[in-house]
Amino acid sequence: MNINDAKKKIEKLKGEIRGHDRKYYVEADPEIPDSEYDKLMKELEGLEKAFPELVTPDSPTQRVGGEPLKEFKTVTHNIPMLSLDNCYSANELIAFDERAAKNLKEKPEYIVEPKIDGLAVCLFYEQGVLRQGSTRGDGVKGDDISSNIKTIKSVPLSIPFSGKLELRGEVFIPREEFLKMNREKEEQGEAEFANPRNAAAGSLKLLDAREVAKRPLDILLHTLGSVQQDIWKTHEQTLLELEKLGFKAVKPYKLCKNIMEVINYVNSWEHKRDTLPYEIDGMVVKVNSYEHQKILGSTNKSPRFAIAYKFKARQAMTKLKKITLQVGRTGIITPVAELEPVFLSGSTISRCTLHNEDEIKRKDIREGDTVVIEKGGEVIPKIVNSVASRRSGREKEFKMPGSCPVCGSQIVRLDEEVAWRCQNVACPAQVEGRIEHFTLRSAMNIEGFGPAVIRQLIENKMLKDYADLYTLEKAELEKLDRLGEKSAANLVNAVENSRRNTLSRLLFALGISDVGEHTAEILITKYENIDQLINAGVEELQGIKGVGPRVAESIVNFFKQKGNIAAITKLKKAGVNTDRTEEEKMLSAGEGRFKNMSFVFTGELETFTRDAAEFEVKKMSGSTSETVSRKTDYVVAGPGAGSKLKKAKELGVKVLTEKEFKELLK
Ligand code: IVH
Repeated sequence: MNINDAKKKIEKLKGEIRGHDRKYYVEADPEIPDSEYDKLMKELEGLEKAFPELVTPDSPTQRVGGEPLKEFKTVTHNIPMLSLDNCYSANELIAFDERAAKNLKEKPEYIVEPKIDGLAVCLFYEQGVLRQGSTRGDGVKGDDISSNIKTIKSVPLSIPFSGKLELRGEVFIPREEFLKMNREKEEQGEAEFANPRNAAAGSLKLLDAREVAKRPLDILLHTLGSVQQDIWKTHEQTLLELEKLGFKAVKPYKLCKNIMEVINYVNSWEHKRDTLPYEIDGMVVKVNSYEHQKILGSTNKSPRFAIAYKFKARQAMTKLKKITLQVGRTGIITPVAELEPVFLSGSTISRCTLHNEDEIKRKDIREGDTVVIEKGGEVIPKIVNSVASRRSGREKEFKMPGSCPVCGSQIVRLDEEVAWRCQNVACPAQVEGRIEHFTLRSAMNIEGFGPAVIRQLIENKMLKDYADLYTLEKAELEKLDRLGEKSAANLVNAVENSRRNTLSRLLFALGISDVGEHTAEILITKYENIDQLINAGVEELQGIKGVGPRVAESIVNFFKQKGNIAAITKLKKAGVNTDRTEEEKMLSAGEGRFKNMSFVFTGELETFTRDAAEFEVKKMSGSTSETVSRKTDYVVAGPGAGSKLKKAKELGVKVLTEKEFKELLK
């Protein structure tokens, strides 16, 4: 191929890839499968290798740079990146509106949009090419993080816009991705990030763009930067034009005709902020007309045409009274902070996990400390930091004891693990935890056995392991504290019904480390009964898709222990099902109810992760896809659904809500 042909071909490929990037990362509506996309990229890489002189900075191959940087260069912003004034009440919004109206001599219209809890960045395009990305820094000077910004796939490297364009926006990590990142960190025994914002900040600071590329960063643009205000007339127009240019502009937003509409809109989001896929800490109210914005101007700290309405704090400060220890069903000893109760977004918090010894050391948390607690995207609170300046000197550093706080036997910290474990499988705390787990609704679904009942049964020597549940008698149960005849009968009944459960439920209920519900369901596609699984070796298990080396090892270790085999023998004797059921057989053979059916998920799901929902479909032999076509049977749409939902309606594809989807699963 001569250089002219190569140039033409390269331009064509770049255009195509750019289009697909936009569809995938900006519009979340991919058109072609990943494999086809990879082919285009490979072809472009090949041509660029043969003709290196044709590589341009805006080529999709240039997203991830080469060698790590030694440090970031400092850049001075064209105009300072100001911050916003904050307010916390409707009255303050009304006062803001009155001030604006007085200066403008008329009432302005507003755009109200989310205040994304991420990192402010500035993007600079020249002649349609991304030239620079920088952090806010101190507002005047920031770091040149161009190589990191380029790795964010929703940032277009080139845009159909001549001249200069400076934009500001927020880099963040979506909540789901953040949870996934932390789960992986936990599995690898690494310290977790406190919240998505910290995770995003930590990622942008990395000097190696190849590492940054692995982080699930995303961006939403929200402000037109220097000098260009004349090209568009209103903030709303900017948001719309940015989308047309291929950016992700901040959303959802609303054009409000007056301040009462603003107040209603911000209030509505205070309650449903968690339905957005990213964290927001308030709403930003901006005067819509740029002419109005110019008249109002800025102080040297913040603009007078915009204000941030901050949601109620999700952080609070309280005293850590004591650190206690909890022994779980696998013997892991978890330190728990006993707090002076404090109210934080909807609930009173008096306890909170401290995860492990290292975490306590890293955060320098001591008994008696004042601590900052936070509710992030998850409902579970965590300690963000201790407040050293509030110490009296009487605080006590935490030290792990040498023995199990429940049974007194020796505890060990295994290599590569952050956790200490009680190694006594007969430790009452472990026994209790295992039995409780066995009865869970998602496991054997034996209702009525709360921790109090289980504890009593263990203390009265009526339960030594979960298999003993099947030999409990009504007359014995009636003798327990606070258990009448009726409750005793219900318990016996619930135990009785559980004998016919599926094999996957039983496998999950056994409490094998690392074997969750999903893994149990994967295992039954290969094994017809529990004995086959008991006899499986590590290698064979690892050969199953979805079973990693750690899981395989856990399974084999579990069945090596005599106590576990003895319990399983007891379960069998008690008539508990240990074979694949007819339904499970059908599912394993790909003959499930969703055979030949294809599903597309779009928008937010509230009670499932996307992975879990797709797994449910696959479990029933259905398939899932990213794109809606005539062949799609169902589109499951949640809040935030956009183009896919539209397409489904156009094509007449059946659309389900999450609730309807759940009905279908039953
Ligand atoms: S407008 C003049 N809009 O909040 C400042 N800022 O203190 C213009 N932020 O550092 C900012 N979401 O990065 C604006 N929708 C949004 C925002 C937003 C988050 C950040 C911004 C700034 C801080 C304001």
